[in-house]
Amino acid sequence: MEMSPIPKTAPFAEEEIDLLNRVVGPASANQRAWLAGFLAGLDAAGAGAVAPQPAAPARPAEPLTIIYASESGNSEKLAGDLAKSARKNGLKPTIIDMADLELSALTTAKRLVFIAATWGEGEPPARAIRAYNELMGEGAPRLEGVEFGVLALGDTAYAEFCAIGKKIDERLAALGGKRIVDRVDCDLDFAEPAGRWIGDAVKALAPPNAGGRVIEVDFGAKPAPALNTDVVEAEIIEYVDLNSSRSDKETIHLALSFEGGAPAYEPGDSLDLYPENDPAYVDDLLKAAGLSGDEKLRADFIKSRDVTTLSLKTVETYASSTGHQYVKTLLDEGQAKEWIVGRQLIDLIATFPIALDAEKLRALTRPLAPRAYSIASSRREVGDEAHLLISAVRYESHGRARKGVASSYVAERLKRGDRVRVKVKPNKHFALPAPDKDIIMVGPGTGVAPFRAFVQERRATEATGRGWLFFGDRHFTHDFLYQLDWQDALKDGALTRMDVAFSRDTPEKIYVQHKLWDRRAELIEWLDGGALFYVCGDAKSMAKDVRAALVRAYADVKALSPEAAEQAVVTLEREKRYLQDTY
Ligand SMILES: Cc1cc2nc3c(=O)[nH]c(=O)nc-3n(C[C@H](O)[C@H](O)[C@H](O)COP(=O)(O)OP(=O)(O)OC[C@H]3O[C@@H](n4cnc5c(N)ncnc54)[C@H](O)[C@@H]3O)c2cc1C
Ligand SMILES: Cc1cc2nc3c(=O)[nH]c(=O)nc-3n(C[C@H](O)[C@H](O)[C@H](O)COP(=O)(O)O)c2cc1C
Repeated sequence: MEMSPIPKTAPFAEEEIDLLNRVVGPASANQRAWLAGFLAGLDAAGAGAVAPQPAAPARPAEPLTIIYASESGNSEKLAGDLAKSARKNGLKPTIIDMADLELSALTTAKRLVFIAATWGEGEPPARAIRAYNELMGEGAPRLEGVEFGVLALGDTAYAEFCAIGKKIDERLAALGGKRIVDRVDCDLDFAEPAGRWIGDAVKALAPPNAGGRVIEVDFGAKPAPALNTDVVEAEIIEYVDLNSSRSDKETIHLALSFEGGAPAYEPGDSLDLYPENDPAYVDDLLKAAGLSGDEKLRADFIKSRDVTTLSLKTVETYASSTGHQYVKTLLDEGQAKEWIVGRQLIDLIATFPIALDAEKLRALTRPLAPRAYSIASSRREVGDEAHLLISAVRYESHGRARKGVASSYVAERLKRGDRVRVKVKPNKHFALPAPDKDIIMVGPGTGVAPFRAFVQERRATEATGRGWLFFGDRHFTHDFLYQLDWQDALKDGALTRMDVAFSRDTPEKIYVQHKLWDRRAELIEWLDGGALFYVCGDAKSMAKDVRAALVRAYADVKALSPEAAEQAVVTLEREKRYLQDTY
């Protein structure tokens, strides 16, 4: 039977659609590829400005393997962008999440691209750790004859800027691969440099004279479901500090309401929140720079520049733009990297003052980036709202009281009725399983936020799978976040079990990993029965301690060697039953 591939909704008249269908319908794959390439060639030549040349005969597109190592989705999205551009240039891309990478795939690749983010303190994204270690290990295959390129994503605020992209780039070369496009290290405002790198990479990787003539058209591909990930305004309709007045912490529950409906988020997704800087900090900074009267700069700094981060790059820019001798010495003697730890831009200006104009000061800043917050609600329960749980970051360093930009914006300058700008950050790697599956959730502190969404969703969908929550914080009486919600959920069955660890209620500090160890027999029983294990919250120590506790639990309960117990957890990770969203 003949197909009618051109839909009635195509931007042609009805009789034109019939005509096209008569030609395209019975065409072979080869003829379609030729036609697609020919039409793209016309576009590339300037929409008919140049007389079309007879097209070359169709030839199979050349394969390109794109591997991404991503935690919050940026590298994954760029991998998609690269694939799209590659397809238009005679390449046939295959995208692989590094979480699923088998190293043997590298040896068969002729062209290889890695797009890799760095997390923690210079570590790979959690899902990519296994394959990353294998790539760095002795068993990694030789890559002679493989052409490669690496795009690194990171944040100059971290000492180990783009460390993972850099290490992968070095490793691929050491294994014999041929670097045919130089690595680019991107900061948080990566859109432009990443876009440019994609253009360069495709140019370098595309077969000669591809010129848009060969396009692999995946007729079977389904468009991704549309999700509104635009920045939207929301009104704060609930604003509650969940800690008691005697707590040394401040954790704000925000309920946001969206005009015209909440964006279509899912449990496990986050919201990017666009903060404003503390005007008092900006005033101090402008004063230190001798630019106090500059109202235009002040407004720009409050709304849209990152005026707190101090990176090595900032120090270098300061040295070169001002010629400050002491700053130059700091850099020349290799002390700058250590000096910036725990310091902010204001420390640089105040410690090494020099005449600055507005442009020079502005050039020391980058765009103010949004901060991600796990969504603590399910749309099935809260309708057009989204809830967030935000812990105020406050600390002291080098004799100055410091405040986190976004969390203090929320904790100190917003109130009920105010409006904030947010954007959904989908996370399909931290989603609920089928409703009949058991779930174990480990979420101390603000790590509990997505699990409130999970529990709400499971209640609303009448899921039959059991839920077990491990929560922890400092004090039972002052810091039991969402205590009433958990009590209700335990009563109505949306939650089956809950274990809590309050670290400062006892002389010996008790954390969630200790509770996991105490409950190890049942824990392993749940996991053997197919339960999924979710961890959310602090990446620096909690997530590592929790994983180590689970490895020890396997070793103890099943009488396994440490290696076999580690393997049991690796198996959970490979089966996507050990899921993390840590920060
Ligand atoms: C996917 C994801 C989900 C998240 N979910 C949540 C959530 O649900 N709730 C939540 O509260 N946060 C969450 N976060 C963290 C959040 O995005 C912000 O990082 C956090 O609120 C701090 O942002 P800030 O602008 O207040 O601080 P910033 O201005 O970004 O300052 C933070 C920086 O200050 C420095 N710093 C902080 N404490 C100290 C210290 N004690 N000593 C020295 N230096 C220090 C560190 O350099 C740190 O990177 C999440 C992060 C991610 C990536
Ligand atoms: C908790 C956390 C830790 C990070 N650690 C680093 C780091 O050590 N070095 C770095 O260059 N970038 C670091 N970053 C920045 C990320 O690499 C950057 O946000 C990147 O765009 C994320 O890409 P992804 O969405 O593909 O995971 C960190 C970000 C977060 C939230």
